[in-house]
Amino acid sequence: MKRIVILISGRGSNMQALIEARLPCAIAAVISNDPRAGGLAIAAGAGIDTRVVDHREFATREAFDVALARAIDAFSPDLLVLAGFMRILAGAFVERYAGRIINIHPSLLPAFTGVRTHRRALQEGVRVHGCTVHFVTPELDHGPIIVQAAVPVLPADDEAALAARVLRQEHRVFPLAVRWFLEGRLSVQGQRVLLEGESPRAADLAAAIVSPEGT
Ligand code: GRF
Repeated sequence: MKRIVILISGRGSNMQALIEARLPCAIAAVISNDPRAGGLAIAAGAGIDTRVVDHREFATREAFDVALARAIDAFSPDLLVLAGFMRILAGAFVERYAGRIINIHPSLLPAFTGVRTHRRALQEGVRVHGCTVHFVTPELDHGPIIVQAAVPVLPADDEAALAARVLRQEHRVFPLAVRWFLEGRLSVQGQRVLLEGESPRAADLAAAIVSPEGT
């Protein structure tokens, strides 16, 4: 059975969605860069090994990356899943796990890379927003896109309302993308990701349909 390691920094709702999806893999460990991350208790409660590699204990980004890689490699993962992991990883780290790291980002990439995506989407007046699951490459938030889900931006939205609408879709598409990886169905050609096998079910694709109700 394939093994995954999940990296988190905070509350861990995406991690929880992955746990609850009962994916065909062993979740070997959940590792956080922040000892206060709420997701650590959720993982421990689910019987999953947890580790903390606190970035504040390292003088340089490189030293942190080396320690993090050591903690990860102890669990020999086939896939590294960044689920709300808020540290930028240097090129050497990303290259080490090339083709087997995926991330969830709360925008329709390539729009709104980086942080505060929901606030910026509201400021820019976009009508459609969403989330993206992508392979991680050294260029931040620019790796090949596996799946996206779109939601409408409604006139009454504030940041919290928009974030909650996007988060519901994150919890839907992230387990889907991880499952496709575990099933060996994803291949990358340049910047494009191809999905082998049957086409995604209509129910899966429905996440990409923008409905006026905002659900
Ligand atoms: C999610 O919106 C994720 O896309 C972003 O940070 C948030 C983490 O939430 N990178 P959670 O920790 O998974 O609840």
